[in-house]
Amino acid sequence: MGMVDLVVAGGRLVFPDRVVEGGVAVMGDRIVCVGSDAALPPARRRIDVAGKWIIPGALDVHVHFREPGFSHKETWTTATRAAARGGVTTVFDMPNTNPPTATAEAVREKIAIASAQSLIDFGVYGVVREDNLDQLRPMAEAGAVAFKLYMGSENPLVPCPSDGAILEAFAIIRDLGMRCTVHAENTPILEWRGRKLRAAGRTDAAAHLEQHADIAAVEGTQRALLFSEWTGCPIHLAHENSRFNLPLIAAAKKRGVDVTVEACPHNLLLSTADGERLGPNALRVKPPVREPGHAEPLFAAFASGLIDILSTDHAPHLASEKRRESIWDCAPGFPGVETSMRLMLTEVHEGRITISDYVRAACEAPARAFGLYPRKGALVAGADADIVVIDPERRGVISAAGLSGIDPVTPFEGRETVGMPVLTIARGRIVMQEGEIVGGPDGRSLR
Ligand code: DOR
Ligand code: ZN
Repeated sequence: MGMVDLVVAGGRLVFPDRVVEGGVAVMGDRIVCVGSDAALPPARRRIDVAGKWIIPGALDVHVHFREPGFSHKETWTTATRAAARGGVTTVFDMPNTNPPTATAEAVREKIAIASAQSLIDFGVYGVVREDNLDQLRPMAEAGAVAFKLYMGSENPLVPCPSDGAILEAFAIIRDLGMRCTVHAENTPILEWRGRKLRAAGRTDAAAHLEQHADIAAVEGTQRALLFSEWTGCPIHLAHENSRFNLPLIAAAKKRGVDVTVEACPHNLLLSTADGERLGPNALRVKPPVREPGHAEPLFAAFASGLIDILSTDHAPHLASEKRRESIWDCAPGFPGVETSMRLMLTEVHEGRITISDYVRAACEAPARAFGLYPRKGALVAGADADIVVIDPERRGVISAAGLSGIDPVTPFEGRETVGMPVLTIARGRIVMQEGEIVGGPDGRSLR
């Protein structure tokens, strides 16, 4: 092999099943060689990463990057800077923007907005609504990477469709050969309980959890699995937060239902007990962080691979939108793309998972689930050169003040971490080095 553009050498290559010494060679936007240092070709630029891990850039298939419509909370510029600093090189953006991503035109509009600003490659979700079943195929043709179904929704931009419409949508998505990500809660339960709790004058954080009771999640999950099995539509269960769903998921997988499942760091590492430290409203997210007793079994399911995929549900709001008296006025969600890898590397350091487990859940599994493997999520010749170098010993403390974003509030405020991404390469271009953003926008839409 002749001279290549870039070689990252002298590190430890992390694969889902092993870790070996060596490095990667990059030509243009592709990986051209992965192997021992002796096997790597000469390069115009060589970066030595002794003592560090080399992994594929992480995918995050669940982010809310807020444009169009909510640019005051986040923009594709601020969000993809956060992603690059967090070692994330592919994101899938959720459709609850304004206008919502519910038509082919809206898909094209979002791709244009993101292309102009994004440091990294991205996918755009199309939403499934009662009134847009005729738009599912046109959205796919316009470049949607997958679909999102809000089975539990109080948001008029993305309301929950009827069961009849969901079944029809699943048949269409199956025929398109795509996957549908599902927010699996039961909307009537959420609406009924929300009304009663408000009428009773409840404004405390616990009322949010009472509204989103486990039964709402279990019913939504059961119905999503049943409809998936019945129609043959592949689904992806978003932000798993209830231990009561784990046996349902295990049984469905055993029967051969084409289902993948994600959890976010806040599902795996936090409980309502953390709300007291943060001020309770900072923890509000839909679906909620539950009471103690869920995170540990969810983490065990994540470590075993029953929960296949790590995502974040990155959903930033301004601090002034989050820190409000009444829980109902407090905007749900918080940022995640910048802190997820650090948090999970800390769990690797603690010995709760291996670095290979992390790569399986954050890189390989999401790429496979959404048809992007091995172009994304793999260190292999021919793949896109999305590469992250990790310093496994680097210590830090998470603080909103140190994060990218417009006005972030993080539920991991003050948390000590061990392990940090220190170099992010997106399709062959260095975009982050030692925490500094060094590249400009060149992200492309994935389908
Ligand atoms: O907490 C949440 N925030 N849950 C959602 O489903 C939407 C998200 C947002 O967009 O803020
Ligand atoms: Zn979300």
